[in-house]
Amino acid sequence: MKTAHTIEEVRSIIRAARAEGRGIGFVPTMGYLHRGHTSLVEESRKKTGFQVMSIFVNKMQFNDPKDFSNYPRDLERDLSIAREAGVDLVFVPTDEVMYRDQRTCVDVDLLTDHLCGAHRPGHFRGVFTVVGKLFNIVLPDIAVFGQKDIQQAVGLEKMVADLNFPLKIVIAPTVREDDGLAMSSRNRHLNADERHRALCIHRSLKKAAEMIASGERSASNISEAVGRVLAEGSPDKIDYVSVVRYGDLQPVDGISPKSVLAIAAFFGSTRLIDNMIMEERDEKFACIY
Ligand code: PAJ
Repeated sequence: MKTAHTIEEVRSIIRAARAEGRGIGFVPTMGYLHRGHTSLVEESRKKTGFQVMSIFVNKMQFNDPKDFSNYPRDLERDLSIAREAGVDLVFVPTDEVMYRDQRTCVDVDLLTDHLCGAHRPGHFRGVFTVVGKLFNIVLPDIAVFGQKDIQQAVGLEKMVADLNFPLKIVIAPTVREDDGLAMSSRNRHLNADERHRALCIHRSLKKAAEMIASGERSASNISEAVGRVLAEGSPDKIDYVSVVRYGDLQPVDGISPKSVLAIAAFFGSTRLIDNMIMEERDEKFACIY
């Protein structure tokens, strides 16, 4: 596995991989890697021959400076996990490499009006801008993102379509701990009590899936039931429980194929998100979470 710190190094290594006829798969991360991240590399390897990962804690996307300074970091550990996962090139830029008097930003209209966009001002502008820059540095054939951060993934799909990035976005399933908690670098901030209470998120998704399986189609009935199950875990704050359309992430009244149920809640000072996508399969609803 190679490690690059500059854009020039990345470009030259990727040029060489392309010259060998290998397709380029890309997984952008902020590090503190877990199995959620490595599952994206596995997905990418099914489709491409050269795996690139970036590790960069992108200050621009943190609306809360404390959240940025507390974000967990452990580069040595990350590099060994990446090597183990079969990554070919890790790009670890500094702030100076990524941002020098940056005046240009990427916003995706409409898609950030609701869910996390409404609660984290400036967050998605930071995400879309850094990912757009990384795409132009790496020039991958595909880039893989997790369903866990559904608003990010859907926003990036739209950015790639609107700005004609010549690559395909792949969205991979959420990887969970055995007890159902979605893996996240932020989970390490949870104390035992918060960690235990946070399981209500997964239970609430299960409840929604059960209701949908038995024919419920009202978004408000489902949201209310989800809220009740969440309340059993006494979250310190619920940011939102929303049902939106996949394409533009606008709220809907009724569940239909490609609706998304999304949740954000605090346990202690840690904000967790999770979601479920509804899809029609064989005239039945499949709930993917
Ligand atoms: P980060 O939170 O490190 O996540 C990197 C990628 O891993 C994202 O695509 C995210 O959706 C995915 N991921 C995280 N937890 C996952 C899980 N449990 N299962 C599956 N995938 C999971 O998301 C970011 O970083 C940043 O916003 C970034 C895109 C790198 C831009 O800075």
